[in-house]
Amino acid sequence: MKDLTPTKSDLEPIEIASIDEIRSLQLDRLKWSVRHAYDNVPMYRERFDAAGVHPDDLRQLSDLSKFPFTYKTDLRDHYPFGLFAVPREQIVRIHASSGTTGKPTVVGYTRGDIDVWADMVARSMRASGTRPGDIVHVAYGYGLFTGGLGAHYGSERLGCSTVPVSGGMTERQVTLIDDFKPSTIMVTPSYMLNILEQFHKQGLDPRESSLQVGIFGAEPWTNAMRAEVEEAFDMHAVDIYGLSEIMGPGVANECVETKDGLHIWEDHFLPEIIDPQTGEPVEDGEMGELVFTTLTKEGLPMIRYRTRDLTRLLPGTARSMRRMEKITGRSDDMIILRGVNVFPTQVEEQVLATGGLTNHFQIELYRAGRMDAMRVHVEAAEDSTDEASKTAAARMLHKHIKDVVGISTEIDVRDPGEIERSQGKAKRVIDNRDKG
Ligand code: DLL
Repeated sequence: MKDLTPTKSDLEPIEIASIDEIRSLQLDRLKWSVRHAYDNVPMYRERFDAAGVHPDDLRQLSDLSKFPFTYKTDLRDHYPFGLFAVPREQIVRIHASSGTTGKPTVVGYTRGDIDVWADMVARSMRASGTRPGDIVHVAYGYGLFTGGLGAHYGSERLGCSTVPVSGGMTERQVTLIDDFKPSTIMVTPSYMLNILEQFHKQGLDPRESSLQVGIFGAEPWTNAMRAEVEEAFDMHAVDIYGLSEIMGPGVANECVETKDGLHIWEDHFLPEIIDPQTGEPVEDGEMGELVFTTLTKEGLPMIRYRTRDLTRLLPGTARSMRRMEKITGRSDDMIILRGVNVFPTQVEEQVLATGGLTNHFQIELYRAGRMDAMRVHVEAAEDSTDEASKTAAARMLHKHIKDVVGISTEIDVRDPGEIERSQGKAKRVIDNRDKG
């Protein structure tokens, strides 16, 4: 893999500013943002008044913890435009997430917001090792999802030749990579595995492809998966994080030279980690739920938004701004099986550590008598489809999950190609517990 460390002169001064400088900028911007929300969004005014707090109470960054949280349900309850802080005519872009239940969450951006977003994605791409003039293949979905257009504007902002492929039509994705020779691909990690498989189907060696950088996000993925993709493509696999309520992709990103967690672009997004049960902030370094306050968002300011994502904050390394550890999962995705907390990423690690299997898997939850039980559906690798190999792989995976995660699971080893392939965000868990 090529050394893609950016030179210092390529970085924005704020990326390597002193902590004092960053904190002082944050405080100024935080005062503006909280005031903007209070003055222009009735929900914030009512909430702050009810909690007995006022924007004037913000004298230092830690005063933020006196303010109430904002939840995903607040966006639903004010569907579609009720939390916008500017007249609707000033909103130049709307995105929405379908969600699994109820109304979608709608987000809106002013021209200024779109500008900041493009800057943050461009910064994230530079941190990932992409350079102006590179060809960038964008395989995040275009549309109401923020992945495609978010990546697209950032890539153009960095000055790259941007190819808006969107998701799906995997055969064509591979043909376009082979023909256009992009240095960078932006895609969900699970869809990248689908693309990898297609390389092999077309008789192409992925290690010979032009790809040098993959910017992977929108779903949890593990360091085991990073190793797998880096080895398969001889490329850097870098983590990008974001959520539509706060902006979209580009809230935080890893640096290609360190790959040690994601630097949060703290000049625009103020992170906190809280205990999800009590709501109390915890110290940097401790695990908890990630909470964001936007510092510059005009259209849809978010004050103390509960992401449900679980991680911890770490000091800066390659940049001054703090890092968040690679996300293990969302509190919503946590499976509690006979008292043990399990995340799909823990199963992913064990599937990748077991020989004779492909890297595709799905978790099924079901009822066994009065107990919840888990079945892991995996696939035999092409050269391990005989019954003896399948039984051996099942036994090994069962043992790995038992030893490392601490739960007993049933393992179902299928033939190659039998697990549903991801087209974007993978659906890792199928919950059949209601189905008798
Ligand atoms: O997934 C934005 C995005 C697009 C990020 C492309 C990165 C790349 P939403 O659809 O609103 O936005 O989903 C946000 O996805 O709260 C996390 O639970 C999860 N997520 C996003 N990035 C990561 C990541 C986009 N790198 C939700 N690691 C977030 C783990 C991630 N989970």
